[in-house]
Amino acid sequence: MCGIVGYVGNRQASSILVEGLSKLEYRGYDSAGIAVLNNNEIEVRKFKGRLQNLANSLNEKPINGNIGIGHTRWATHGEPSDVNSHPHSNANVTLSVVHNGIIENYIKLREWLTSKGYTFFSETDTEVIPNLIDFYYEGDLFDAVVKATSKLEGSFAIGVVNKNEPDKLIAVRKDSPLIVGLGNDEFFIASDIPAVLNYTRNIYLLEDKEFVILTKDGVELRTEEGEKIEKEIYHVTWNVDAAEKGGYEDFMLKEIHEQPKAVKDTLLGKIALNKEITLDNITFTKEELENFDKIYIVACGTAYHAGVVGKTVIEKLAKIPVEVDIASEFRYRDPMITDKTLIIVVSQSGETADTLAVLRDGKKQGARILAITNVVGSSVSREADDVFYTLAGPEIAVASTKAYVTQLAAFYILGLYFASLKNTLCIEEIETIKSELLQIPDKIERALNMKDSLQKFASSHYNHKDMYFLGRGLDYAVAMEGSLKLKEISYIHCDAYAAGELKHGPIALIEKDTAVITLLTQEYLKDKMISNVREVSTRGGNIFAVVNEGDTIAREVCDDLVYIPKTIDLLTPLVSVIPLQLISYYIAKQKGCDVDKPRNLAKSVTVE
Ligand code: F6R
Repeated sequence: MCGIVGYVGNRQASSILVEGLSKLEYRGYDSAGIAVLNNNEIEVRKFKGRLQNLANSLNEKPINGNIGIGHTRWATHGEPSDVNSHPHSNANVTLSVVHNGIIENYIKLREWLTSKGYTFFSETDTEVIPNLIDFYYEGDLFDAVVKATSKLEGSFAIGVVNKNEPDKLIAVRKDSPLIVGLGNDEFFIASDIPAVLNYTRNIYLLEDKEFVILTKDGVELRTEEGEKIEKEIYHVTWNVDAAEKGGYEDFMLKEIHEQPKAVKDTLLGKIALNKEITLDNITFTKEELENFDKIYIVACGTAYHAGVVGKTVIEKLAKIPVEVDIASEFRYRDPMITDKTLIIVVSQSGETADTLAVLRDGKKQGARILAITNVVGSSVSREADDVFYTLAGPEIAVASTKAYVTQLAAFYILGLYFASLKNTLCIEEIETIKSELLQIPDKIERALNMKDSLQKFASSHYNHKDMYFLGRGLDYAVAMEGSLKLKEISYIHCDAYAAGELKHGPIALIEKDTAVITLLTQEYLKDKMISNVREVSTRGGNIFAVVNEGDTIAREVCDDLVYIPKTIDLLTPLVSVIPLQLISYYIAKQKGCDVDKPRNLAKSVTVE
């Protein structure tokens, strides 16, 4: 999704803006641009393509000036092109704007502004914003931005500069993320914290409809009525290195290898042997928990796949009925929500538009909302009733890996927490699961050591056009995640099937050498799975299997396999996903794909 940055201070704005934008590249983009106030004129430079195009142009012909705004665009309205790139300005370039979000009523506004004599040059929704601000401008930029944004429907985080007030940058958000960085005599706006971390760790997390006026002398927060807002400063504690590659070739590979630590950190302080489970931002009483007649787990993409595991975990451990839903479907299917409903939303970024909308609708209908998120201060974390923070650290690669395993860990912890409140498990059972859970970081570490055989598999299978993933029970949930990972970064067409469904249709796809990755880790389903594997091999399919250490049967029916450290069936997804992530990574690398920034994808999907 689009990323915005802004700078006001004493240094050259253009290099700080480009550096900030480089930290937002992970969000996905197709063009980049900046606008800098230079000798009381606004100079705009913007290009389709990588940020490097902009950086090269600025190296050849610098823009001087100490105040400016920047943008990486992920096209929604209008193809990627120089003219559709941001910043957008009014016709005589007195005002420039960067915008993340979607203006839903832009056609109406554009027609209206055209009737007032305004001219438009791009196909974007954003271009109405500088023109609207221009329409309302009577010498006070704040006033004009308030009036203009009151006419906008949809979502926005914007930064605005005006050549008639050349010391000022104004920003505001509604349903799109925006933070303010507080340096010494220099101030920043950005869509996400990594963009400002080289300069400051002191941040304001803006709420919807909070306006901020930045000059090099300070930052003023105001409501739309112009009243001053006092806000607590959020101090970022994680290290800037956490958002760097740290010697790995790609963020994705680094993040895959960070999984033992990510899970360990997420368990730390919550799970310990012979101690009660303590959760900081979650406070259910036994009565409240017993009052829920239904839990909905709602999320998108990988977070949804974590939810599919979460359903089994909570039902098995806490004996509460759970439904799991894709957020973009749930919103429109009129689900039955009452004050007896608990909705668990799962979102790494905490900003996914559909997930956020489910949270808000659910709240209106009286449900209690528990969020599992990785980002402190994200919209989801601020609006939920209870929050479980996964401690994965910043996830930069578009394809989610370490966030997924920490989301799984969150569900195991919540399942145990609910079970102990409801007394659905005895102490011995809880302690056994806790003890297994505490060994998982080491088992993930060992699974990561299997990379040689996975690399070998990748180099002989990277040119397949299609691949299939099979599993039963929790293996099916992990197969879905493996299939998503492979398709999103290698562009190979993949599907995951519940193995028992094979003969109801998908088996028609199997022919000689069709590549099939199977998971055979659920001991209680092993015999059934072996029969399904035989159905595939009989028809010529080439089978690669993920199996538990100690298994002796799989080798007889599969063409190739990898052994993973054994744990209890319920916890296996935490380990079995590792080879699937590595296979996807190595296949994508073999094909020469940009694994960190796959085509057409954005890290944080802040539009519907
Ligand atoms: C896939 C992936 C996406 C996200 C999805 C939800 O690798 O990363 O499918 O899981 O866009 O994002 P969050 O968790 O930020 O709500």
